[in-house]
Amino acid sequence: MKERLITLRLTEKSYNELSKEDAELVASARAATDGSYAPYSNFHVGAAIRLDDGTIVTGANQENAAFPSGICAERTAAFYAGSKHIGRRFTAIAIAAREGGSKELTSYNISPCAACRQVLLEYEKLAGNGIRVLMASQTNVLEADSVATLVPLAFSDF
Ligand code: THU
Repeated sequence: MKERLITLRLTEKSYNELSKEDAELVASARAATDGSYAPYSNFHVGAAIRLDDGTIVTGANQENAAFPSGICAERTAAFYAGSKHIGRRFTAIAIAAREGGSKELTSYNISPCAACRQVLLEYEKLAGNGIRVLMASQTNVLEADSVATLVPLAFSDF
């Protein structure tokens, strides 16, 4: 029997360590939380995807009384970008959230759920480049250099 250890490397940045483009992307994710429809969880998530032409596409979580019918912010943004910006590569995604009626972002970093990671992984493979993942909190941003970093032992059929 052998043990295998899988590690992942993240970078923690304070807000003033972000590039201008990344600061703009995180600000867009934050602004996108206003579009959240989350009467059940009261957890307002925003996502902002940067495309290879510089365009930013945003999305927010949309809930439903039939709970599984809702969708996360990341997939809202990804599917919109895939539908409207045909053939454009994703280069980065920022994710941020506010809880309840708070105007502030969460004190902890928001990382994409497993279903969203799987979806983003496929866009990453289509792009042929890493999609950087910027996971915001009120005080800092955790960065992964690709979605694959966040999906060890990923399922993939191509
Ligand atoms: N949610 C997202 O939008 N993105 C995530 O990565 C995790 C969770 C949403 C789903 C649901 O509307 C609410 O947050 C609470 O789970």
